[in-house]
Amino acid sequence: MSLNGPSTLAVHGGEERRKPEHSLTTPIFQTATYPFRSMGERLAYNAGEIARITYGRYGNPTQRAAEAKLAALEGGEAALLFASGMAAVTTCLLTFLSRGDHALFVDQCYWQTRTFASRFLPRLGVETGFIPRWSPGEVERHVKGNTRVIFAEVPTNPHLHVPDLEELVAAGRACGAVVIVDSTMATPINLRPLKFGVDLVVHSATKYLGGHNDLLAGAVVGDEERVGAVKETQAYLGGIPDPHGAYLLLRGMKTLALRVGRQNETAMAVARFLEAHPKVRRVWYPGLACHPHHEVAKRYLTGFGGVVSFELAATAEETGRFIDALHIPYLASSFGGVESLVEQSAFTSFCAFAPEERRALGISDSLVRLSVGVEDPDDLIADLERALDEALS
Ligand SMILES: Cc1ncc(COP(=O)(O)O)c(C=O)c1O
Repeated sequence: MSLNGPSTLAVHGGEERRKPEHSLTTPIFQTATYPFRSMGERLAYNAGEIARITYGRYGNPTQRAAEAKLAALEGGEAALLFASGMAAVTTCLLTFLSRGDHALFVDQCYWQTRTFASRFLPRLGVETGFIPRWSPGEVERHVKGNTRVIFAEVPTNPHLHVPDLEELVAAGRACGAVVIVDSTMATPINLRPLKFGVDLVVHSATKYLGGHNDLLAGAVVGDEERVGAVKETQAYLGGIPDPHGAYLLLRGMKTLALRVGRQNETAMAVARFLEAHPKVRRVWYPGLACHPHHEVAKRYLTGFGGVVSFELAATAEETGRFIDALHIPYLASSFGGVESLVEQSAFTSFCAFAPEERRALGISDSLVRLSVGVEDPDDLIADLERALDEALS
């Protein structure tokens, strides 16, 4: 079967044509363990003569089906699902880092990835470094002889910076580091990092991959050898997905291309509207020419994504009033689902940071992050316009 277009791949990629009991969809295998018929079968399994699942922590058929689809979407040899995006990130880092190693985190990372890097990894004897803002040549200046992991998000959150992937990969090759890209914000519809030489892609599948704000999951995608190494660590740490969550993810991914295509278009329209609005001081959207990484984004991204961040010409209180005046987006953490979500970043995602840390990260009190859902763009824009008028008269 030729799976060329992104929607065909999202629906059919990784799918077995014949499924149990002639079912069209993959069933939920709600089981913790998988009995053997006899000791003979068990010994044959031990000797590697037969391959099969033995116990839930090592895999589940529904999970495997979702992994096969994600691997197909990312163009990777293998994928591995986790209980959450953080389980994927931390299990991956713990697989490739040991005492005495250095790990480099590029630009803004999800705040808990950043905190894990700054507080937790040093307890294990791993030195961590951060590049606060991406600019060309930066990564080369920060790598060391003992750098074993280079970790970046593309695009970053909330300023949607786009680090140069080929530069990251070249730096990783030079020092022998594993290059890991958290591509949650991009999705395989807008970016396939493995194509550019990145070693492993991680996702919070809670966001666009699941797409319906109803599940938590994470994923790692890459070559068999590295994903196999992460799987071994997962067996110890135990951050596995449950079969029902894996089913929801598999179902959600079938509409990924449709949803993300719509979200790309809506976010672009919203970003243009905001850019022209007198009460908006600045808009961060990589599809706009005013974004500092617009040219890099055009090189790597086939769509600019569904998140738009913007700073109002307003106080913290007025910004809060604007958010309260919105009717369509929910005030909630997360992004990437069918419902639009909004947050005042300083007091939600970044509320655990001290004001001076927030300032250093460029998180002002009037910064708003909007994740557009799949509502009609005109309705969303009308809602934003009305709320801006009401709150900032
Ligand atoms: C870019 C990114 N990576 C990882 C995570 C962690 O994912 P989860 O909440 O599924 O653990 C998040 C969560 O917001 C995220 O935004």
